[in-house]
Amino acid sequence: MKITEMKITDYDEVFALWKNTEGMGLHKQSDSRKGIARYLRRNPGLSFVARDNKKIVGTVLCGHDGRRGHLYHLAVDRSYRKKGIGKALVNRALSKLGAIGFSKCTLCAFVKNRAGRKFWRYIGWTEWPDIIMMAKDIK
Ligand SMILES: CC(C)(COP(=O)(O)OP(=O)(O)OC[C@H]1O[C@@H](n2cnc3c(N)ncnc32)[C@H](O)[C@@H]1OP(=O)(O)O)[C@@H](O)C(=O)NCCC(=O)NCCS
Repeated sequence: MKITEMKITDYDEVFALWKNTEGMGLHKQSDSRKGIARYLRRNPGLSFVARDNKKIVGTVLCGHDGRRGHLYHLAVDRSYRKKGIGKALVNRALSKLGAIGFSKCTLCAFVKNRAGRKFWRYIGWTEWPDIIMMAKDIK
């Protein structure tokens, strides 16, 4: 199992993994090939894929807004779970963020994604129940 920087050439395989993974909130524009290409250009070297030989079995998107890091779309193929891949992907992204000067990282999880939330807490993340997320469509 090898973790490498995600490239846009990984898109089709990564998107297929996201589509087959519970707990993913996929957005038509942001998660399109064009959207992900823009995200990777905007946040170079921060997003990763895990490969078993050539097959992509895990992904994490990571970026920042100049103030904090943020993770999206952590997903591990069902048959590769509980082998440390999810944690390793998160650690790679956090260590890259740390190396470029960030000391805090956030992520969003669906309230109903109990297993996902349990994983995050288990690996040391803290929920902020006093904060809610808001959103508005721009166009
Ligand atoms: C959440 C997910 C990424 C975890 O990936 P994974 O590769 O199985 O996790 P790891 O093997 O790295 O687990 C690291 C540790 O967390 C534990 N863990 C994994 N999933 C857990 C869960 N659902 N609840 C509690 N602990 C969990 C592991 O046992 C391991 O413990 P250890 O270090 O003591 O051995 C994977 O289950 C997944 O893709 N879920 C669906 C997508 C999802 O919910 N993503 C998060 C969206 S917010």
